[in-house]
Amino acid sequence: MTEKSARPAVQTGERSIQRCIQPSCGAVFAIHERVIVCTHCGGPLEVQLDFNGLENPRALRDTWAARAASTDPRDRSGVWRYRELLPFASEAPIVTLAEGNTPLYDAPRCADYSGLAALRLKHQGCNPTGSFKDTGMTTAVTQAVLLGAGTVVCASTGNTAASLAAYAARARIQCAILVPSGQITAAKLAQSMDYGATICEVEGNFDACMRLVQELAGDPSIYIANSINPFRIEGQKTVAIELMIQCGWRAPDHVVVPGGNMGNSSAFGKGFDELLRLGLLDRLPSLSIIQAEGAAPLARLFAALDRAKPAESLIPDALVPVEHPQTLATAIKIGSPVSWRKALRAVLNSRGQIITVSEQEIADAKAIIGRDGIGCEPASATTVAGIRKLVAAGHIRRGDSVVAVLTGHVLKDPAYVSDYHRGSLSLDSTAPDSASREITGQFRNVPERVAATKAAVLESLRRRG
Ligand SMILES: Cc1ncc(COP(=O)(O)O)c(C=O)c1O
Ligand SMILES: [Zn+2]
Repeated sequence: MTEKSARPAVQTGERSIQRCIQPSCGAVFAIHERVIVCTHCGGPLEVQLDFNGLENPRALRDTWAARAASTDPRDRSGVWRYRELLPFASEAPIVTLAEGNTPLYDAPRCADYSGLAALRLKHQGCNPTGSFKDTGMTTAVTQAVLLGAGTVVCASTGNTAASLAAYAARARIQCAILVPSGQITAAKLAQSMDYGATICEVEGNFDACMRLVQELAGDPSIYIANSINPFRIEGQKTVAIELMIQCGWRAPDHVVVPGGNMGNSSAFGKGFDELLRLGLLDRLPSLSIIQAEGAAPLARLFAALDRAKPAESLIPDALVPVEHPQTLATAIKIGSPVSWRKALRAVLNSRGQIITVSEQEIADAKAIIGRDGIGCEPASATTVAGIRKLVAAGHIRRGDSVVAVLTGHVLKDPAYVSDYHRGSLSLDSTAPDSASREITGQFRNVPERVAATKAAVLESLRRRG
């Protein structure tokens, strides 16, 4: 089907605004205004779409389904296919790598491990650069081009950088990335090098990189592509639509995501909320966030909340950061998440949970995911580890329908996988919390050296079968 025949009655691009989410401010900016945070109070912005012009939102399901068979690049993209819910005019030139379209797998071994009858894994690591970031970079870089930005920049634990580098290369604009020196995986750094990014290895952690990016935001030549940029969240929220299509528009009871800078959880929350408001969902899935024990500022805050009070009144003015975040899941080694407020709101509105898991729990959950034939990077495995804890605590029941979101590909961090199986995985000896440093893999699978004979191979298979 062509764009012409599928064209909706109303384009949302011209009817969108950017709004400051600080309740005490609420300042409004035009959709084409070049702002990243509120210029009045410094608060985070959110895109607000006016759905009033959408005459028959329910027809969107058919429009989107028909586009899945189209060869138009807008329809091949698992983000732009849902363009009625994006803040762009329909004729805007887009920067795309056919992102989205990621699988939803059944994972019976993970289900058993977690104490569930069934568990599904939405694998966002199957995006073009191997992580969910691509679904937000397609929209952020498209907006950068529309605004005439010459340079896009981000702070990153590796995946944002790889993704931004690729999309900037497609758009032929300069890309600068700020990464914590020595703290991102070789594979992620290699991707950014290959895509031609200008790489600054900053002497500091991710939070220092993020602070620098916020300082750079004042420079008129620079456009920030971190998830504090509301156009990132717009692209990333489409995963909620794709997931609902894969679930036959029946909302699962629970969707569980890892939490780092909190862009992904914020985007899921926004996506589900918009589908509910459009009448395409009849209830919100419960959204839960899992953090690594050593990098868990939002889980700490959540544990201290008095949840008897109404959701909006529970959101405090500030989050106490973790000064020295520690985890081998480097993608979520973040002590001061910028989108914590949006993420917390989404969890509270949907009656979800925010909990932590240990390094041991992450590592073993990752190996179990592998036994289902599905690879992911360590940060993604927090979900299965967290679901196991949420089932044990009674927050998730055995028969509930549950989706865990895997955020990154297994080849993003092969050193971690190999160290786990060979028994040499441990937190850096400089980590302040030495108690939980050593990891003893429960599901290790060690290669065995064998003589170059048939008998030796058969003997090895028999012993290990
Ligand atoms: C693989 C992976 N998982 C999870 C996260 C955390 O996502 P967010 O920062 O949006 O919370 C990241 C962020 O870099 C990531 O790369
Ligand atoms: Zn404001």
